[in-house]
Amino acid sequence: MAEKRNIFLVGPMGAGKSTIGRHLAQQLHMEFFDSDTEIEERTGADIAWVFDVEGEDGFRVREEGVINDLTEKHGIVLATGGGSIKSRESRNRLSARGIVVYLETTIEKQLARTQRDKKRPLLQTDEPREVLESLAAERNPLYEEVADFVVRTDDQSAKVVANQIIDLL
Ligand code: S3P
Repeated sequence: MAEKRNIFLVGPMGAGKSTIGRHLAQQLHMEFFDSDTEIEERTGADIAWVFDVEGEDGFRVREEGVINDLTEKHGIVLATGGGSIKSRESRNRLSARGIVVYLETTIEKQLARTQRDKKRPLLQTDEPREVLESLAAERNPLYEEVADFVVRTDDQSAKVVANQIIDLL
């Protein structure tokens, strides 16, 4: 296995990208990045603030910039925001610059995991299930398009999923 190829995790909110990504990076002795955290560090404000002040379009511009920069790196594990694959440029860069793993899960699991924290602006609604379903219809084909591998994250722990990914590499 080529340890120094980048590993990019894509998938919807609540798929476990950040938690699994941290485990992967630790086990492979690679550096871990999270595109949302990177946006927050560069902006000096949280994601909710960016959505409030700059709108989703402003957020997407920042996200594309972060994906552009991080995909220049080598030997990193990157957890991408769930909507980052809407950008064709980001999809192309992810495909070209590393191994892309699509973390797939059920809407039920997404709901359960995202309810634990209230940080996602797109889910600040009375109908989070409907939002997640509509995002899935729009985005799942895009995750599939960029993915080298698809891994389900429904019931296993993050550590077990990380080991499954390592076996695939
Ligand atoms: C979003 C997903 C979030 C974050 C933002 C928008 C989306 O990241 O980038 O709230 O459009 O799906 P996670 O996928 O890490 O929750």
